[in-house]
This record gives sequence, structure tokens and C-alpha cells, in this order.
Amino acid sequence: MAEVESLCDIVIFGGHGDLAFRKLLPALYHLSSNGYLDQKSRIITATRVEMSLEKHSNLVKEKLKEFLKDDTFDETKFKHFKEQLEVVIIDFSDDNSYQGLSELLKSEPQRERVNYLSTAPDFFGTICKSLSQWDLITAQSRVVLEKPIGRDLESSRVINEGVLKYFEESQIYRIDHYLGKDTVQNIMALRFSNRFFMPLWDANNIDHIQITVAESVGVEGRWGYYDDYGAMRDMIQNHLMQLLCLVAMEAPCSLDADSVRDEKVKVLRSLRMMTPADIEQKTVRAQYTEGVSGGEAVPAYVDGAPESRTETFAALRVDIDNWRWNGIPFYLRSGKRMRKRNSEIVIQFKAVPHSIFANKGRCISENKLIISLQPKESIQLQLMNKIPGLSEQMHLQPVELELNMPMNTKHKPDAYERLLLDVIRSNPTLFMRLDEVEAAWKWADVILEAWGEDVVPMKKYSAGTDGPTAAIQLIARDGRSWHDE
Ligand code: BG6
Repeated sequence: MAEVESLCDIVIFGGHGDLAFRKLLPALYHLSSNGYLDQKSRIITATRVEMSLEKHSNLVKEKLKEFLKDDTFDETKFKHFKEQLEVVIIDFSDDNSYQGLSELLKSEPQRERVNYLSTAPDFFGTICKSLSQWDLITAQSRVVLEKPIGRDLESSRVINEGVLKYFEESQIYRIDHYLGKDTVQNIMALRFSNRFFMPLWDANNIDHIQITVAESVGVEGRWGYYDDYGAMRDMIQNHLMQLLCLVAMEAPCSLDADSVRDEKVKVLRSLRMMTPADIEQKTVRAQYTEGVSGGEAVPAYVDGAPESRTETFAALRVDIDNWRWNGIPFYLRSGKRMRKRNSEIVIQFKAVPHSIFANKGRCISENKLIISLQPKESIQLQLMNKIPGLSEQMHLQPVELELNMPMNTKHKPDAYERLLLDVIRSNPTLFMRLDEVEAAWKWADVILEAWGEDVVPMKKYSAGTDGPTAAIQLIARDGRSWHDE
């Protein structure tokens, strides 16, 4: 059994939404049944839908059965979990509807409180205001903000200011679920606990870095949200930027939240702002057309959103203007309905200065460190090795040193489990600070504005492929290619 955590009330605003059922409740179920959450802690769903507690519990049970991975639903565990569930009916725009929540929370006035805002961001400020008016914010309260936090710097400021009127920055947890993935955290372990990489991790030894987050799924019924955001706002500005920060940052002086976030923000501030000419040459945006995905014919993106000018794919060359990365490009790409689900970071080292091997005309491949995030979780180091045998000349071949990370337990914790537990433990290291969000928007806004003015034409790619040819040309212009298997 795990160490039991402090008592805590968790309120999920938007608690009958997709994220709550798919991610938050399964994560809390695991935390509770594995002893990470005190059994007296309450999980309070705040929803607009009129529903009795019995009906709500049955719905949660049904959804857990649907969404729990690895077949981990267990009747006995659910019986305990059910005891923790509560439901309150709240219309977020009606301040008077908080009576039920107020009574519930005030019945345990000393408890730590986690308010998880899984609603449209327009409600963030309104909900915080109501919590304050009902006197439900204590020094032990925290608030978790789901992305998207705005569509640009200005709207993100409005949202953040709305929350900051009622909560201190130290009480705000802005979630980016990529930071809760084990492999993503492992980037820090790999870089800062192995001497091996330290002297090689710079512009003298690295040729370039690629970060790919490719999804085979489409928009999955999230048109209303997605068509307003697109790949740049939905993935690049947050998830890929966070990965870039972890790869590029300097060693923090400790693992405490501000030391880590100080280093990440320095990277974001060192991102080279693109000029209009850069945007034309170094960015690609595209939409998928009909094609074949997972062996099935799938419609074009615009079938769900006619007239849409929203990109479902983005690729960019990003430069970081600091001593460590001077002149070293970071190529980022992310798209929906791609050939396969594949998220990885490829660190491509420079070639050896001079080759003494004949190697039958074949070139010596440069070393690569491949950090695979999904679907496989692994770290692979590609090296050159001698082909065994008695041939007169020494011939070489690339070999792979593979570091897999097997887990001994049946259940592999999801990113949301880690992050919810961190909120309960009051550890904000893996959450974005205000200045990080703002620095990322500042950089992205310039590109988004130019795209909005059609400075870069919208390309097309067939669903089920590796994206538009323009993305291949983007990297090929620099004499490089994407790491696609
Ligand atoms: C979310 C995006 O933040 O991340 C989705 O809004 C995307 O569009 C998802 O599908 C990808 O997450 P993961 O963990 O499946 O890679």
C-alpha cells in the first residue's frame, strides 16, 4: 500500500464532461484504490445536469468500466470509491447555485481543497469569483486550470487575471498533461543524472533535434473546440513547447518548482521570434483530406467543418538564441490523422570529424538518441559497431542500444494520476507558471497572426500519411530528413 495522503476535497467543475470521465475519474479511482488518497477524501462533481447521487454514481461506474485501461475495474474497489463520490448541481453563470457546494465544503472547513476547472476557459474567472463570494477559498485551496488557457497572449491574460483576482499564483496549477508522462519526466533524469550526455548536449556535438507528436486519430467529435484552435494552439504552443524546454534547458539548481520553471522560461524567452520571411520559409500548416486510417476510409477534416481554415498539422523550424543552442535547429511537427501514432524526440549528433573506415561505400550513420514517448516508451541510442568476421577491411553497421522501462505492476499510472497527486501534495513543479504560458504565447502569436493573414498557404495531406510534402521540404532544405520508420 502506498503512503496515505492528507485529507482533501476535490471538486471537478465540468464533472460530467469528456475529460472528467475519460481521464480525471479513472485517475482518482486508481489513486483512491492504491492508497494514495485518504478514504475520507471526497470527489465532488459539479455539473449543470440535474442528477441524484445514486444516478451519478451509476454513471461514474459505467464510464469507469468504459475508460479504465488494462481492465482494472474492480467491483470491491468501486464500492469504496463510490463512498467518496458527491454531486452538486451548479449553473456556473449563476452565483446563487453554489449553495449545495458551500454546505458540503463547509461541513469540513479544515480540509485542503482542490478545485479542478474542466470547463470552457471563459468560465474560469466566473467560477473563481463565485467560490470567493461563497467564502470557499481558503489558504489550503488550490485551483487547477485545464488548457487551453486562451487562444493568444491577450485572451490568456484575461483568463489568468480572472483567476488571479481570487487565487495566489502559488495556488494555481496550470496543467499540461505531457509533463505528467513518465517518459517526459525521464528526460530530466536522463540529462541530469548521467554524466555521459552532459558534455555532448550542445551546439558543438548535436546537429539538430526533432520533436514529433503524430496522432492517427482525427478530431473525435471535438469539432466545436478544435476548429477554433488547430494544431498550433492545441499541441505546439503547449505540449511540444514543454518537450522542447525539457530538452533544451540548463540544469536547474534543484528540483524545486521554481528552479525548474525558471530554467524552462529562459528557454522560452530565448526562442527566436520569426520574421514574416521566416514564417514563410520555416513553417508549414496543413489540413487532412480524405484517406485511409487504420484500414478504414475516413472523411476529410472539412467534412466536419466546411469552410474551415484550421490546420490539423503544423511543422516548424525553431531556433533558440543562446550559447548552448546557437545555430542548432529544432524541427517540430504535430498532426492528426497521420500514418501512425508516434511521439518521439530525436537528438541527432554530428558526424565524426573524419572517417577512417572504408565501410563498403556506406556512410557512417551519425549517432542518434531517440526518446519514444508513445505508443512505445523507450530510449534508444544508435551507435556504429563493427560487423563481426574476418573480412580484410573493417566494415561497420548501426546498432541500437535500447533502454526499455518495464513496470512490474499491471497498472501503469496515467499522466493525470501523477499530476492530480502532485496537486494534492502541493507540488507545482510539473505545472506551468504564468510567465511560461505568456512567453510561449508571445512566440506563437507572431506565427498565428501571419497564418491568419494567409501569409503561408494551407497545404493538404491525405489522412493516414506522414503529412504534406511541404513538411518534408522544410527539413530537406537544410539537408536533413525526418526520422520516419
Ligand atoms: C490534448 C489535445 O491536449 O492532447 C488533443 O487537446 C490531443 O487534441 C491530446 O489528442 C493528445 O494527448 P496524448 O496524451 O494522447 O498524446
